[in-house]
Amino acid sequence: MKKIVPVDLAAEYKEIKSGIQTRLARVLKSGRFILDREVMSLESSFARLIGTQFAVAVASGSDALLLSLMALGIGKGDEVITTPLSFIATPAAIVRVGARPVFVDIDPRTFQIDPAKIEGAITQKTKAILPVHLYGSPADMTVIGKLAQKHGLTVIEDCAQSTGAKWKGRMTGSFGQLGAFSFYPTKTLGAFGDGGMITTDQAKLNTLLRSLRNQGTGNTPYHHEKIGLNSRLDELQAAILNVKIKRLSHWNSKRRAVAKQYNHLLEQSGVNGSIEVPARYCKTDHVFHQYPILTDRRDALLRYLRKHHVPANVYYPTPLHLQPCLKHLGYHEGDLPEVEKVCERILHLPIHPYLSVSQQQFIVGLVKKFF
Ligand SMILES: Cc1ncc(COP(=O)(O)O)c(C=O)c1O
Repeated sequence: MKKIVPVDLAAEYKEIKSGIQTRLARVLKSGRFILDREVMSLESSFARLIGTQFAVAVASGSDALLLSLMALGIGKGDEVITTPLSFIATPAAIVRVGARPVFVDIDPRTFQIDPAKIEGAITQKTKAILPVHLYGSPADMTVIGKLAQKHGLTVIEDCAQSTGAKWKGRMTGSFGQLGAFSFYPTKTLGAFGDGGMITTDQAKLNTLLRSLRNQGTGNTPYHHEKIGLNSRLDELQAAILNVKIKRLSHWNSKRRAVAKQYNHLLEQSGVNGSIEVPARYCKTDHVFHQYPILTDRRDALLRYLRKHHVPANVYYPTPLHLQPCLKHLGYHEGDLPEVEKVCERILHLPIHPYLSVSQQQFIVGLVKKFF
């Protein structure tokens, strides 16, 4: 059996090698590496994919979040409601602009921000809701949209893990004023390095973001109205993504098939009493960036799988409100009990479009043997 890897980027490359090489050679020959035709072409294909008017390519998913907050003018004294179960980049962007992340506990059945608990966290200082479509599964954009409208808040979607996922038939990243995407290599649409994208329907935000990603440059060269960042996606990464974007729906359907196979194998293995398989109940248009299971014996199972060379992982062992770098926010253990319980019990089995049925049988066989 082929070695099990967390993501098989080599297999992916094999499938698209000639397209990538042709496109990269064209960029290298042109000598144009910054904000040129590859970036423009990617921006229009990406906007078409998500169903928004505009897409602005940036240097990373972290910058996509930061620039989104900057473009909305969110800063000191403002609060942004978000989830405590995400990568640190989500609250870090809020802290970077000087605002305060307000964490709302998760729904342990979906792992997403609990829509029923959001309204209770809205204050006079709340400016935005920042849901994360975690593990490739959409947050409840119906409730979030209604609450935002009722309270006059903006919505920034963190779509770093959800490129291609839909909520009620509509792509994530098309609900909020802004959608922030990551092209980190392991994402459902990944570059061969860092990259990100911001989607929006608002022409004003589109213009502002284009300026902010390029040091606040406007129409007149070397005249700067605003302090921005150097956060441009380069032409080589854009060329790669222009090839890969055409395969996204194929790769996402392979991910769904792998998840379905896991559901089936785990069901058949008879370990149902020892683990929970949340994906079994999934009703959304999920892209399975991750495949989580829950168990009380998480740490021992993780050690056992790794001992047998299965690269299982935990996303994330520490909820965000208990991260040392966010201590100044004043949260304590016990404040958000659902996420705290999940962080102790969650484990992610390897998932990628090239994981074979025999590899999955081996992994589930080990899980069964462990219990
Ligand atoms: C939920 C979430 N938000 C933001 C980011 C940041 O993206 P990047 O690594 O491209 O900066 C990530 C990436 O790992 C992520 O998973």
